[in-house]
Amino acid sequence: MPTSDIAIGLDIGTTKVCVVVAERDGRGQLNLLGKGHAESEGLQRATVVNVQRTVDSIRAAVADAEQESSITVGPVNVGISGTHVHCITSDAEISINQTGLVSESDVRRFLQKARANIRYLDMENEIIHVIPQSFTVDDQEDLPDPIGLAGTTMKGSALIVVGQKTKIRNIRECVEKAGLQVGSMTFEPIASGLAVLKDREKRGGVVVIDIGGGTTEVALYLNGALHHSAVIKIAANDVTQDIAHGVKTLHEVAEEMKLAHGFAYLGEGAGDDELVVAGVEGRPEKYFSKQSLTLIIEARMMEIFEMVRDVLRESGLYDSLNAGAIITGGGSLLPGTAELASRVLGLDVRIGYPEGVSGGIRGSVDSPVYATVMGLAGRVFEQPISGEPPAGSEGVPPPPQPKPSGAEPPEGGSKGGGIADFFKKVWDQL
Ligand SMILES: Nc1ncnc2c1ncn2[C@@H]1O[C@H](COP(=O)(O)OP(=O)(O)OP(=O)(O)O)[C@@H](O)[C@H]1O
Ligand SMILES: [Mg+2]
Repeated sequence: MPTSDIAIGLDIGTTKVCVVVAERDGRGQLNLLGKGHAESEGLQRATVVNVQRTVDSIRAAVADAEQESSITVGPVNVGISGTHVHCITSDAEISINQTGLVSESDVRRFLQKARANIRYLDMENEIIHVIPQSFTVDDQEDLPDPIGLAGTTMKGSALIVVGQKTKIRNIRECVEKAGLQVGSMTFEPIASGLAVLKDREKRGGVVVIDIGGGTTEVALYLNGALHHSAVIKIAANDVTQDIAHGVKTLHEVAEEMKLAHGFAYLGEGAGDDELVVAGVEGRPEKYFSKQSLTLIIEARMMEIFEMVRDVLRESGLYDSLNAGAIITGGGSLLPGTAELASRVLGLDVRIGYPEGVSGGIRGSVDSPVYATVMGLAGRVFEQPISGEPPAGSEGVPPPPQPKPSGAEPPEGGSKGGGIADFFKKVWDQL
């Protein structure tokens, strides 16, 4: 099978490293060919702290995926996250080319200008994505897709996703030391959104919240475009750590208690059961009330959602989230999470599972834990407006060549036009 038809997503998370090998099937879905999963031991809060351990985890996950798919893993689309990543909105204005009709090349110039506006802000950082938000052609405002429209000037805004050079380099080094080639890099909340969101949700206004082990990622979409994103340094491992402190036990025992008995908030059903806590290294077992366990969990989960609420308020778009919130990541599997989130955020909430996946082993990624990695693979098939590298590229190579096909993107969303479709043409020039 030619590897150019294959997409590889690599999610190097705080608790697990995950690789998927997929191809696009005739219906535009992602046909899952193989998946690899390994415990991650070299990261803290989505940032590499131990190169060799990270490399070992990547190798183990890749070996699994190669065995299951019988495909040698080629260039990967690797996820980037961590609190060092942040977003800046940049406005730009250009003159439309001599034909008087907005062309793809005009849009490219617009993106380059938006990018140039912030290039010299901070030498420690590099640009990961430049994402168009909306355009104004002469006096026509809020245009989702300006191509082909007549006018003399075009202005608009773009969201620039920026990350710390050294931390991005660490990810690249680990991937390369594991024997892989970095084909492209994607900010993880963008990937999670791609896997779980419907286009109409993106148009209506929605926030994706990925509660991982070490970080909680927030991505806010409006009018089909990403408008804001942030990474919060509190997540599901902090819940486990709080249990360990409260119960006075090891992290591993606390994790087992969370998985077996955890609930996100103290409801009527908590009761006054006593849970048996395994004795550690020959110590006697002890008892801890389920109610106390739930109180510990609720306090931390509330804090996470309050921080998400702060991010939404700061974005200025809180009141525009008519399609509510979607929660992904392992933290979303804690029973009661959607209800608690809905209470704190005041939004309709659902848990996000990867959509548009086909193939006999698709069930193996049918979990919010795999939203990021499936989005990373799906993004490889997004159509760039052209292969032209951005002026003064910050060292991130262009994405792998997309499969030339008229098939629908793997999102499984509705067809409508607008900026969501436009994004499928405009690769946010890495
Ligand atoms: N069934 C479950 N119930 C409750 N919590 C769960 C469940 N499964 C996983 N988790 C929690 O989810 C977290 C891991 O989530 P995930 O795999 O999304 O993290 P990650 O991608 O490795 O980390 P990050 O995105 O922060 O780098 C752990 O804290 C784990 O305890
Ligand atoms: Mg993650």
